[in-house]
Amino acid sequence: MFDVKKIREDFPIFASQPDLIYFDNGATTLKPKCVIDAVSDFYCTHTSNVHRGDYAIAAQNDRLYDGTRKIFARLINCEPDEIAFVHNVTAALNQIAYGLSDQVNEGDVILVSKAEHASNLLPWFRLAKQKNAKIEYVETDAQANISVESFRKAMHEKVKVVSLAQVTNVLGSIQPIAEIAEIAHSYGAYVVVDGAQSVPHMKVDVKELGCDFLGFSAHKMCGPDGVGILYGKRELLKDMSPVFMGGDMNARFSSDTTVLLKDAPVRFESGTPNIEGVIGAGAAAEYLMSIGLDEIHAYEKELRAYFLEKMKQLDNLEIYNPDNEYGPLAFNAKGVFAQDAAGYLASKDIAVRSGNHCAKILHEIIGTDQTIRASLYFYNTKEEIDRFVQAASQISLESAIGIFF
Ligand SMILES: Cc1ncc(COP(=O)(O)O)c(C=O)c1O
Repeated sequence: MFDVKKIREDFPIFASQPDLIYFDNGATTLKPKCVIDAVSDFYCTHTSNVHRGDYAIAAQNDRLYDGTRKIFARLINCEPDEIAFVHNVTAALNQIAYGLSDQVNEGDVILVSKAEHASNLLPWFRLAKQKNAKIEYVETDAQANISVESFRKAMHEKVKVVSLAQVTNVLGSIQPIAEIAEIAHSYGAYVVVDGAQSVPHMKVDVKELGCDFLGFSAHKMCGPDGVGILYGKRELLKDMSPVFMGGDMNARFSSDTTVLLKDAPVRFESGTPNIEGVIGAGAAAEYLMSIGLDEIHAYEKELRAYFLEKMKQLDNLEIYNPDNEYGPLAFNAKGVFAQDAAGYLASKDIAVRSGNHCAKILHEIIGTDQTIRASLYFYNTKEEIDRFVQAASQISLESAIGIFF
């Protein structure tokens, strides 16, 4: 049984910040005690490097670090050697774009949407420039949803890579990735999924999605900062070139400059990794699975519907994604600059994000590059929403500006 009161007891921050309403979960999430303990145990009782030491705690850390691949393999239904640990989803997407660079040639097309985060655009923009390839955008509706029909229309023989967020970060549009992957594959294109806003919130099964690559960040799913998870199909990862060259990822090299790389996934983990972060990320994934990703998703959907219903009643607000059933609420208080409104909410101990949320061409879909994003997670409550709505009802030019004087 999903019991939010009990869940909140797992998060020490609620004891030290009893009045905080944290609705900035799209940016990063709060950490449960089990994750904090996993990281702190590493520092207090078994610090070492990995893949390098011949002593007991080094072997323990090898087991913990490499064992975390199994946890993530269970989370997204793949094989452990299809999981590489990088620094965040940004690093994962950059690695994928670099790794696919041999597959993209002059005149080829990389297909994305205008609702993507910078991390899922800029690596592709660079690749397109380097290769004289083209970026094309799948058409979306006004709330950034891609229909199977519009995707079918956007696909053609020149498209070599399709890269889309499964859930967009401002409007929470859920894209039909399984259907998209099937169509894209029928043209021989690679399918890359930015799972930053999906994996933390719902059951994601890479076999069901049929994608070739998926990236996500541990810090957005109750884990530590500085850990990204890069999934790639085994047969693709094994031939892919790593961005970073250095220690641990090579099997041998010699003075004549020949280099033999290790196999994937270690090939993508050059240098000392974020060992405690990876171990903590594993604890976070176990924690989410112990609650149940389906349960988390259902609860968040219920919270979101409750939130939207209340916010829709406020006539001082304009909401940009009222028809999407999931994810953040993106809105503005009429006539009030988003950052001023966020400042007013902060004065009521409410954390949201304002601005363009790194989705800097989304304004071509929604007509503004300044919104307030209130993003929920499974530890939020209807009581918090009630307090939020009460505060939101008070946002006006006078109240928002007033807090600065
Ligand atoms: C959809 C999406 N992609 C990529 C990112 C980048 O995440 P990170 O900063 O963890 O690399 C974010 C972060 O907000 C995101 O929401």
